[in-house]
Amino acid sequence: MWEYTDKVKEHFLNPRNVGTIENADGTGEVGSLACGDALTLTLKIDDEVITDARFKTFGCASAIASSSALTEMIKGKTVAEAEKITNEDIADFLGGLPKEKMHCSVMGREALEAAIANYRGVVLPMAEGEVVCECFGVTDLEIIRAIKESNLRSVEEITNFTKAGGGCGKCQDRLEEILRATHAKSLTQIKAPEKTRRLTNIQKIKLIEDALEREIRPALRKDGGDIELVDVDGDFVIVSLRGACGSCKKSQTTLKEYVEKKLREQVLDTLIVEEGK
Ligand code: FES
Repeated sequence: MWEYTDKVKEHFLNPRNVGTIENADGTGEVGSLACGDALTLTLKIDDEVITDARFKTFGCASAIASSSALTEMIKGKTVAEAEKITNEDIADFLGGLPKEKMHCSVMGREALEAAIANYRGVVLPMAEGEVVCECFGVTDLEIIRAIKESNLRSVEEITNFTKAGGGCGKCQDRLEEILRATHAKSLTQIKAPEKTRRLTNIQKIKLIEDALEREIRPALRKDGGDIELVDVDGDFVIVSLRGACGSCKKSQTTLKEYVEKKLREQVLDTLIVEEGK
């Protein structure tokens, strides 16, 4: 059972601005009934100001609440202001969404972008991407964007934000590849000479083992957990969380972030920690 904030419940039970605007100036349609979520957003725009926004959605409580919140957020804003709204802004407006439901806020943001694009008479680049997840019709460009915008660190998080990978699971290897490639590319873009140390793989492994032994393992062992180094592949550090850490699914993302932070401080600030078996 998901934990919803009072604001999510309120917008779900009393959704604002439900319906369709006749002769809308901009219409955005995203998702599909076959995929379980669909949203149509229509906008009335006068002199670049969004004077009315209506939605129709087929989806869960979070999808309805996110769509309702979105319409409240954009009414009265200029188109330029509205297009700066992110999916995180929609989730924040609602006091947060369960992580498994973040894709609902993404759907809202995509509908807004589609409606604004329709108003401007342009074709969104997402339509040009290659479909990676056939179950939910999600393209590589959508996945890369979600990874970058929300700093996604695992295939599970990609599924939470885009739904990709949440059906038959056939696309999960490809999602993993896109995740690695996107982070690797971002790293080469942000690497600054003063932040990058030249280390051989053996030196890197030695420093990582030292950091694990000196600080990280003792901290995890206090709570009955442990960590093993499985492999080092370039900047990717594959670890296995053991004991209490291995069985506590909820805290694994936080633990990975903790280990990554420590390794970046003590070894190399471009390292990425991933969990292996
Ligand atoms: S193809 Fe992605 S979950 Fe089925």
